Amino acid sequence: MRNAILLLTFFIVSIANAQIKGIEQRIDSVMSLMTLEEKVGQMIQVNGKFVITGPQMYDVDYEEQIKSGMVGSFLNAVGVDYTRDLQRIAVEETRLGIPLLFGFDVIHGWRTTSPVPIAESASWDMEVVENGARVAATEAAAAGQHWTFAPMVDIARDPRWGRIVEGAGEDPYLGSKIAAARVHGFQGDDLSATNTIAACAKHFAGYGAAEGGRDYNTADMSERTLRDIYLPPFKAAVDAGVQTFMTSLHELSGVPTAGNKFLLDQVLRKEWGFDGFVVSDHSALNEMINHGIVENQYDASVLSATAGCDMDMQSQAYFTHLKDAVQAGDVPIAKVNTSVRRILRIKFRMGLMDDPYLYCNKEREKNSMLTKEHLAIVRAAASKSCVLLKNENNILPISKKTKIIAVIGPLANAARDMNGSWRGQANNNDVVSLLAGIKNAVSSKTEILYHTGCGKKSDDKTVFQEALEMAKKADVVILAIGENGDQTGENRSKSNIGIPEIQIELAKEILKVNKNVATILFNGRPITMKWLADNMPSILEAWYPGTQGGNGVADVIFGDYNPSGKLPASFPIVVGQCPIYYNYKNTGRPIREGFKWQTKYLDVPNKPLYPFGYGLSYTSFEYSNLLVNKKEVHFKEELEVSVTLKNTGKYDGAEIVQLYVRDLFGSVTRPVKELKGFEKVMLKAGEEKVVTFKLTSDDLRFHNIDMDYVAEKGDFKVFVGGNSNDVIESEFKLIK
Ligand code: BGC
Repeated sequence: MRNAILLLTFFIVSIANAQIKGIEQRIDSVMSLMTLEEKVGQMIQVNGKFVITGPQMYDVDYEEQIKSGMVGSFLNAVGVDYTRDLQRIAVEETRLGIPLLFGFDVIHGWRTTSPVPIAESASWDMEVVENGARVAATEAAAAGQHWTFAPMVDIARDPRWGRIVEGAGEDPYLGSKIAAARVHGFQGDDLSATNTIAACAKHFAGYGAAEGGRDYNTADMSERTLRDIYLPPFKAAVDAGVQTFMTSLHELSGVPTAGNKFLLDQVLRKEWGFDGFVVSDHSALNEMINHGIVENQYDASVLSATAGCDMDMQSQAYFTHLKDAVQAGDVPIAKVNTSVRRILRIKFRMGLMDDPYLYCNKEREKNSMLTKEHLAIVRAAASKSCVLLKNENNILPISKKTKIIAVIGPLANAARDMNGSWRGQANNNDVVSLLAGIKNAVSSKTEILYHTGCGKKSDDKTVFQEALEMAKKADVVILAIGENGDQTGENRSKSNIGIPEIQIELAKEILKVNKNVATILFNGRPITMKWLADNMPSILEAWYPGTQGGNGVADVIFGDYNPSGKLPASFPIVVGQCPIYYNYKNTGRPIREGFKWQTKYLDVPNKPLYPFGYGLSYTSFEYSNLLVNKKEVHFKEELEVSVTLKNTGKYDGAEIVQLYVRDLFGSVTRPVKELKGFEKVMLKAGEEKVVTFKLTSDDLRFHNIDMDYVAEKGDFKVFVGGNSNDVIESEFKLIK
């Protein structure tokens, strides 16, 4: 009976609210009914059963906590049945019946997975990125989720940092485009549609700059570097309409981000006008005690709530202390009201305040997973994410008429590893391994031999011989090596980013018995691979390609898709070069022929093994005729930069044409190159096309000596090419 009355109350409130025009008025109306405790309740997020993604410090009965109105959101509650049960408690057994918001790390898929984010980013193809996010959103929403903790838009210049796998790599321009595409993919145009979920730009901010690439470690940087390099993708996410932000687990220049007023209030709200809410990262409020910025949980809740962190993920600091802190006058009630308004706003936009069970449809959950359409999208994404690093003697593509193919290596039949880090609700049985993909691609006339060759990590060479016998017999060997899927991701930083030595040993032995080896790499970060690069004739970077990985990569191996991917992050020669990135500063002693005093290492060149933007094709492209339409351009004018691109090889193919600039002199020093545009251009064999980019002074802005975000007049170089290193160049002058 009590439940029935409460349910009625909820619907009366809803109906009454529905009659008031506009979400803000409806929020006013709900908030006018709320007690302080109920308000604090909206600011609390707790962890569901089954999936654990961080420290569990509390053994709490969350059902009781929901009933007391002290939960606003859940993370890691999986499936329509479970989320419906929890939602029912919130709606029917609390005084106001305000629905819960369910969030989950839907990073590159729910049941169907796309290639991991760094891989998708290697496509430089915004349709691929957006479609991948849409597939993830459709399936997650059908399974009861409202909100994903993605995209991770952290710039990462250090591949020792395992979370580089979750982002778009090292460049703020590419990272911004990808951030916007992912946000749009997740959220679509209508948040209350049942195939969209709210996105979350994380981890705000500078988390990818953790010292030494060690996860959770301190980042200390100038405000200029923060604003010019690390913040642009977050701003792009705001401009694309992202609904939520997440803080990080680290400290930025002395202040942990969960209590960082400069970031959460000044930059995000005051400068960018963000009207969604901010959730802390997992247990981040508690961890501010370890950081040494607050002495206890009470102070943590005061610092975070006043800084503008609206929701406490799982540390229970708000649950335990926020009400007291408001009553003691340590947190102004206005702060709480603002946070609650932001959270309710998203619940309204998601359609939950009108129908709390909107995302709880069993039929939809059953029918939305692994659909033909989803599988086709992620298969194409797997192909388009591959980066061809080397292809001597045209070993790739392999003819489907080849008589004997030996597929060797510990990653060849490793379905689980194909999903890499953050697997959502992926099931290994749904995944097409490389071996299966190769078998699907060829007819029964091709004999496929298969051997693991060695373990993924062990140093046991006892089975080498069997693999070598197969390699000897085969016309061509496909060697599948790399890192296992658990080697990158959160808390998986490494000081050695090479692939395990046993696999290199295997590669060496195989090459001795068969020169026709196509090496297929599976990994989630730039790796060191000097021996492979120097010796193996053909290398394809396949990353962790997701559910349809085997089919998608086989499409590239056999030439059904001509590879077009480009590296979104530099691959170092040795780990000692890290951090490594193409948009570095020149220094006073740059590398110059014949000079002794240079900024360099004695034992390794000042360049990466493979630069940012690098990737080959089965065809070849020639760049010529780089033209600027004006040698002098006014601040208010547009500059056109055009280049002729010709497909000079035998295959049709797509090239990612990249535009870089260098601002030669500034009131502060400027990078040697900055990406300012790119376009994926499809050309038939022999075809040529003029590609034109437009630049305005807005594209040339940076934070100058006075921290104003402006372009400065003067001389610029402009470069166009197929990667950040091999370019042709011209110049122009920006004049007032
Ligand atoms: C990670 C976040 C993630 C959260 C919830 C944290 O440990 O840093 O990226 O969204 O857990 O799973």
